[in-house]
Formats: sequence, C-alpha cells, structure tokens
Amino acid sequence: MANKLAAGNWKMNGTTAQLAEIDALHKAHPDPSVDILICPPATLLSRLSDATKDSAIATGAQDCHAHNSGAHTGDISAEMVKDAGGSYVILGHSERRTDHGETDAIVQAKTQAALDAGLIAVVCIGETEAERDAGTTLDVLGTQLAGSLPDGIDGNTVVVAYEPVWAIGTGRVPTLEQIAEAHDFMRKTLADRFGSAADDIALLYGGSVKPGNASEIFATSNVDGALVGGASLKAADFTGIITALE
Ligand code: G3P
Repeated sequence: MANKLAAGNWKMNGTTAQLAEIDALHKAHPDPSVDILICPPATLLSRLSDATKDSAIATGAQDCHAHNSGAHTGDISAEMVKDAGGSYVILGHSERRTDHGETDAIVQAKTQAALDAGLIAVVCIGETEAERDAGTTLDVLGTQLAGSLPDGIDGNTVVVAYEPVWAIGTGRVPTLEQIAEAHDFMRKTLADRFGSAADDIALLYGGSVKPGNASEIFATSNVDGALVGGASLKAADFTGIITALE
C-alpha cells in the first residue's frame, strides 16, 4: 500500500526569507499522519534540510544529473542532493521537459541515478492540452511511464506524479473523472510491468491543487497525494492541503 504524500515544489521561488514558512509548517504539523515533502530551489536545500532535521518534513531537489560528478556546469548530482540532506528528487517535470529538452530516456537515466544514490524519485508525467484534445492522453501517459522508469524498481522508492501540463499554474483542474481515469490507468500500467511492487508506488496528482479542491481530489480513485506548486509556498495554504490528505 502506497504512503500518502503531500509534496511541495517551490520551483524557482524563494530566498532565505522563504525558510520562515517551514517553521510555520512544522508548528502546524508536529506529528503528521501523512508524509510531507518540500523541494526548494537547490540554493536552499541544505539550509532547509538543516531546518527540518527534527521535524517530520522531508526535503528534496527539483532535478539531478544522471552522472555522479564531472564537467557538467550548473548541474547537481543525486549524490549531492543526498549530501545536502535531501531524500527525494523530482524528475521529468514538464517544465524540465519543455525548458531543457528532457526526453523520457534522460528522465529514466536520472531516475536510475537517483535510486542508485538512495533517493526517492518523484517522476512526473502528463499530457499537453493539444494531446488531451486529440484524445491521446492515455497513450501519452503510457509512453512516458514506459520510457521514464527503469526496470526492476522497488515501489517504495518511486513516486509518480500525474501533472496535466495545461493544469499547471493555470487554475484549471481536470474533472474528477479525468483524474480517476489517468490514475487508474497508471496503477494498472505499473502493475502490468512491476507486479505487486506497483501497489507501493504513491500516485500524486499535480496541477492547481489548492486547499479548496484538495479534499475531492484526494477522494478520487488511486490518488495518494499531491505535488503542489504555487500553494506550497505559503504554509497557510499548504497546511490546508496536508490536512485534507490526513
Ligand atoms: O510540480 C507542481 C506543479 O507543476 C503544479 O503547480 O502551481 O499548478 O500547483 P501548481
């Protein structure tokens, strides 16, 4: 059975002042019954990890390189994420796929590197609006799942986030039927490939999740939590989402 997970992706937001939100989050959830994760910009990962050391809040990065070290200016490796105190890494986010040309093969290599370093990989997939309009959503999800995940995974070390590209930061959310269709499809596809290990893979929904819509999304079939962007920046908002998941 997959753990429930409320994950915040701060994206390219936050300088030192943003760390104050963590104190508020910790005070609001001293002993949470679900897993809580914050993925800050790389510049804050070490300090955030120190600040959350005595709390139940886990930290992670928003990307890592497929190699452990070398001439890759501007990149960070999975081992460096671990060394900075992170235990998770988000991989294959649509903004990485679009802004940095990341293919499924690249995401798979990064996922393998993350798993080798002992991190939990949060692998993102999702269709564009054009793909949904064309009726190819499940084909797209199937292709991304097949290409982005390595063979032989342990379900406890992989999380899959379904993030329809058109729902990210737009205030638009798929219908609950559309979310259920995607998540049921992901669970079945993962079970076909990984067998019973698929039961342990947490399936997150991401895209304009707010305190006001979280409860109904979490009540949807095969939704084990959320990957939250904008509403994870303020502890007051993220708390509403965590509470809805508890
Ligand atoms: O990774 C989280 C994300 O892309 C969703 O962002 O701002 O729509 O919650 P947002």
